[in-house]
Amino acid sequence: MSGRLSGKSGLVTGAASGIGRAVATRFAREGALVAFADRDRDGAAAAVAALDGATQAYPLEVDVSDEEAVARAFADVLERAGSVDIAVANAGVQLFGQDAPVGDLELPVWQRTLGVNLTGTFLTVKHAVRSMIGRGGSIIVTGSPTGIVGGGRGFTAYSTSKAGIHGLTRVAAADYAAARIRVNAVIPGYTETPLVQAIVEDQEARSALLSTVPLGRAGTPQDVEGIMVFLASDESLYATGALFVVDGGATAV
Ligand code: NAI
Repeated sequence: MSGRLSGKSGLVTGAASGIGRAVATRFAREGALVAFADRDRDGAAAAVAALDGATQAYPLEVDVSDEEAVARAFADVLERAGSVDIAVANAGVQLFGQDAPVGDLELPVWQRTLGVNLTGTFLTVKHAVRSMIGRGGSIIVTGSPTGIVGGGRGFTAYSTSKAGIHGLTRVAAADYAAARIRVNAVIPGYTETPLVQAIVEDQEARSALLSTVPLGRAGTPQDVEGIMVFLASDESLYATGALFVVDGGATAV
């Protein structure tokens, strides 16, 4: 198969669902060897099974908050493909009904959110870097507008985890530019996936949110694919340490 990512190999975390699934599917269709990495093994297997046509995709069970599991996942891709060129640290959780304004936020909710979103991203970026040293590569993390502006009211742990991810992106980009490892963040706006089911099902909250989006509609996982392919490919060789916002204009107003 030939495509914009032919000859490249890598891993996408959170690939059993939503944005990660769409991106990993697109990477596979663009010719990359892609591990669909997720703690939901059956979901990752189903995502790979749903691919039409010949691809080099395969499911990989990994909990991103477990360092040994993350290291094993990168070793697996290296062993199969001989290189890791692309890593997307995308797995995340948002604990609706538990995350809260800081005065009301319970420590276990903070720890669980930070453990997956921030520590999981740190571990993914750490082992991506280790597997790319000497050859270079592209690391992409999934950030959030809630890490830039105060739009995630009541979501203290989630917003903080995403702001941390943006900081990690910049420092890692600066540290590894000389090694030709690029690190960028993609920041999707409100994107209808299982993560935000609580909003999708609440017509009032959904309408209020959509009224803040200049393009006037919710994002879909497919809306995030194009920027991810660009950043994973050699078309973006001069882009590193940057935040790429795909939010229908929400943070522009
Ligand atoms: P989703 O809930 O559809 O998918 C998240 C995936 O991550 C699931 O397959 C889940 O099993 C996996 N996951 C969760 N914890 C994991 C762990 N410890 N180890 C491995 N896999 C794990 O969510 P969605 O919306 O596709 O989110 C993907 C990323 O996009 C997240 O980082 C989220 O914060 C971010 N994002 C989402 C937005 C939205 O409106 N949906 C907006 C901005 C950012």
